[in-house]
Amino acid sequence: MGVNTIYLDNSATTKPLKEVMQAFMVVNEQYYGNPASIHAMGVESNELLMRAREQVADILHTEAKNVLFTSGGTESNNTAIFGLARSNTHKGNHILTTEIEHPSVLESVKQLELEGFDVEYLQVDKNGVISLEELRAKVRKDTILVSMLHVNNEMGAIQPIFEAAKIIHESSRAAFHVDAVQSFGKLPISFTDDEGPDCISISGHKIHGFKGTGVLAFRKKMKWQPYALGGGQEFGLRSGTVAVPQAVALSKAARIAVETMNDRAKKYRQWNEEICTQLRRYGDVVHILSTPQGAAHILSFSIRDLKGEIIINALQKRDVIVSTSSACSSKQTKTSHVVEALNLDEHFKKGVIRLSFGAYVTDEDIVKFKQVLDEVLMELKGEL
Ligand SMILES: Cc1ncc(COP(=O)(O)O)c(C=O)c1O
Repeated sequence: MGVNTIYLDNSATTKPLKEVMQAFMVVNEQYYGNPASIHAMGVESNELLMRAREQVADILHTEAKNVLFTSGGTESNNTAIFGLARSNTHKGNHILTTEIEHPSVLESVKQLELEGFDVEYLQVDKNGVISLEELRAKVRKDTILVSMLHVNNEMGAIQPIFEAAKIIHESSRAAFHVDAVQSFGKLPISFTDDEGPDCISISGHKIHGFKGTGVLAFRKKMKWQPYALGGGQEFGLRSGTVAVPQAVALSKAARIAVETMNDRAKKYRQWNEEICTQLRRYGDVVHILSTPQGAAHILSFSIRDLKGEIIINALQKRDVIVSTSSACSSKQTKTSHVVEALNLDEHFKKGVIRLSFGAYVTDEDIVKFKQVLDEVLMELKGEL
């Protein structure tokens, strides 16, 4: 793909920002000492690491000692779920999550089910949102963990995590983990007080940082089972030499994401609405899965009786990159679990397309995209 490619798959991954790449290069070239070493180079490197940690902690309103650098959203989610469940068995063994989580959560809780934990899944309505009444009814005294994603990666539904947190904390001693991989840098998300989330996962490559970078952050020190044993780095919770350049790059990407969030959100909402208006002109040939209450950077829709791959290929021939509902399930032939949970009409299940905006997308890209979309829909659905 070339310089004119319009990339609308930013929820799968983003292009790193120049400032982020530069910070990574400088740290690699000049501050490559091991942050655990006691010599001057180690001390310098450790100072950079601590600064990166403090920056992320400030953004999330927690203390630096509660921020763990990881290899990405998958590791953060796995670590949160296994760590919080296995170290709280004295309180109970009930776990709650939703049916539209990312596979890194669903596969983790499935593993815990095999180990004897009692896992229940909250349903979502046709807009992809859980019911707080169902949550209230399902949280029990022996619930030890609730894991919920903030913004769904396939269609952008936003879960009411702050209201959910209140219910969870009122009715149980459960820890509340939020997968904020798709919301961090797009919506406000941070620790608040005792009523907010206890633990948040973030991924670097969704915010114009690097693949293989992430954060798992806690509101306060929690009872925890380390999972990577060794030299005791990252407060003994994740052994292994810490990747300082990656940590610095992630903290830079996080700071820029938060600073530019409001301006980008306005643009994303405008583009989202413009494209929806255009799609609605196709009447019942198009079904829009995303809702105006959802996250603005994700817009999912489906074309009646068309396979997603056909639309993707037709757009790609015209230099436009989009994805099927999720990058993780795009190579699978079966309908995604999220699409199944939304109870979509059979005619729309195979053709779900996801557009996702990012910092490099321009107004001109969207104008061009809308032209190309019309061309493609006329070509594939000629009778329109
Ligand atoms: C909601 C959500 N959680 C977790 C992940 C996994 O993140 P990573 O790719 O950094 O492992 C993704 C990636 O698509 C995601 O969308």
